[in-house]
Amino acid sequence: MEFTSMFKFCGFASIFFVFLIHSLVRFFNSSRRKLPLPPGSLGWPYVGETFQLYSQNPNVYFASKQKRYGSIFKTHILGCPCVMISSPEAAKFVLVTRAHLFKPTYPASKERMLGKQAIFFHQGDYHAKLRKLVLRAFMPEALRNIVSDIEFIAKDSIKSWEDQLINTFQEMKTFVFNVALLAIFGKDEILYRDDLKRCYYILEKGYNSMPINLPGTLFHKSMKARKELAQILAKILSTRRQMKHDHNDLLGSFMGDKESLTDEQIADNIIGVIFAARDTTASVLTWILKYLSENPRVLQAVTEEQEAIIRSKEECSDERVLTWADTKKMPITSRVIQETLRIASVLSFTFREAVDDVEYEGYLIPKGWKVLPLFRNIHHSPDIFPEPEKFDPSRFEVAPKPNTFMPFGNGIHSCPGNELAKLEISVLLHHLTTKYRLVVCGGCREWDSVWPFCTSPEWSAHPIISEESDHT
Ligand code: HEM
Repeated sequence: MEFTSMFKFCGFASIFFVFLIHSLVRFFNSSRRKLPLPPGSLGWPYVGETFQLYSQNPNVYFASKQKRYGSIFKTHILGCPCVMISSPEAAKFVLVTRAHLFKPTYPASKERMLGKQAIFFHQGDYHAKLRKLVLRAFMPEALRNIVSDIEFIAKDSIKSWEDQLINTFQEMKTFVFNVALLAIFGKDEILYRDDLKRCYYILEKGYNSMPINLPGTLFHKSMKARKELAQILAKILSTRRQMKHDHNDLLGSFMGDKESLTDEQIADNIIGVIFAARDTTASVLTWILKYLSENPRVLQAVTEEQEAIIRSKEECSDERVLTWADTKKMPITSRVIQETLRIASVLSFTFREAVDDVEYEGYLIPKGWKVLPLFRNIHHSPDIFPEPEKFDPSRFEVAPKPNTFMPFGNGIHSCPGNELAKLEISVLLHHLTTKYRLVVCGGCREWDSVWPFCTSPEWSAHPIISEESDHT
């Protein structure tokens, strides 16, 4: 009898305890819910402020909002309530210290097109595993082996522009694509290069199209090209498996993993990496040429620095090919790249989604809301970078304060391709500045959105490659 009462008591006590915890959680959550939302306006029902965003340069929209509401504000765009943040501290909170509370988020149609297994869409163990494999292929130790191959591609590209009027951005995209194929497949897969290019170009055309998968639509063509790309990749994988060689490229890294990736995971990530690498790096290269042509003194300083590298190699009777060490002796060029990354901020912002209600600085960021760290606003803050609209590479003679300069993002999703991007830019600039004269024709429209808002000069300044210098 005593045992039964004891049993009943324990039962009631546990139910009471569970109830108490539940009520406390609810109380805690409801008190959080009482926190105010950040200032700002949600615009019209359903459409929110999407029209305001699209009817002007998005960067002007973000800047005017920040001026009005401060460094954290709410809005509603593309069908989603959003919180936009534009202080270094808030960006660190979202991307680094509380990264687990903010998952990367993309529209479902983009996930389908790039491939659901691609690195950008994931968190946790799968993401960490992919990141390790991608970084293995793009870390300096791996890249130093392909400097001369990148140089070959750069010289070949420039040669094809000689005495021609070129659309800079388009040509830079081709250059970057060829470098990406080299870094991913090494030199073996040259056989498939044209097919890979053809399919990728069709895929890319449909990226910003309406996601209607009916015959004849751009989206449909893109999805078909994506399927074909996956088939080409399957052929490459099967040839490699038969050859049984070790490769130091990205595909080798994916295939060499002990708990190996499936073919589908490999295909999604290869397409994803090409996508992440191409427009971003090509945009930065185009902006650099534009800024150099507008700033003849800076161009002169870069040219002299690059010529000094050639002279020092001649004096040491070194091989004439560039080495990794040479690319690390380019402080002026490197500051030009940094300043361009800052001023052009080709990825103006990125997207996250709050996985829970989050409190930041007394405001509520509700679960499910999108959160956009605005890199460009931080890079253009006069408190951080005085006279932010002025192209002044010398500002990078002093290292920027932590979390104020994030052209490659920050935290666990920051760009694993940043070393490769800087390397290919430096190699191309070496040959352009030392062997050619740039003549700019035409104007430059400032923005076009690619991934997710990659700012690329849509109709770019055209350098005419016209005159070879003494160093041939
Ligand atoms: C100048 C050129 C580039 C810029 C400005 C750039 C910028 C960025 C930024 C800002 C992110 C972070 C996005 C986020 O947090 O949501 C990112 C991610 C990424 N980038 Fe780059 N990128 C460049 C070139 C490259 C190249 C050359 C590659 C590969 C060869 C690459 C591969 C990636 C990948 C795979 C991610 C996703 C990383 C992850 O989710 O863990 N990027 N990039």
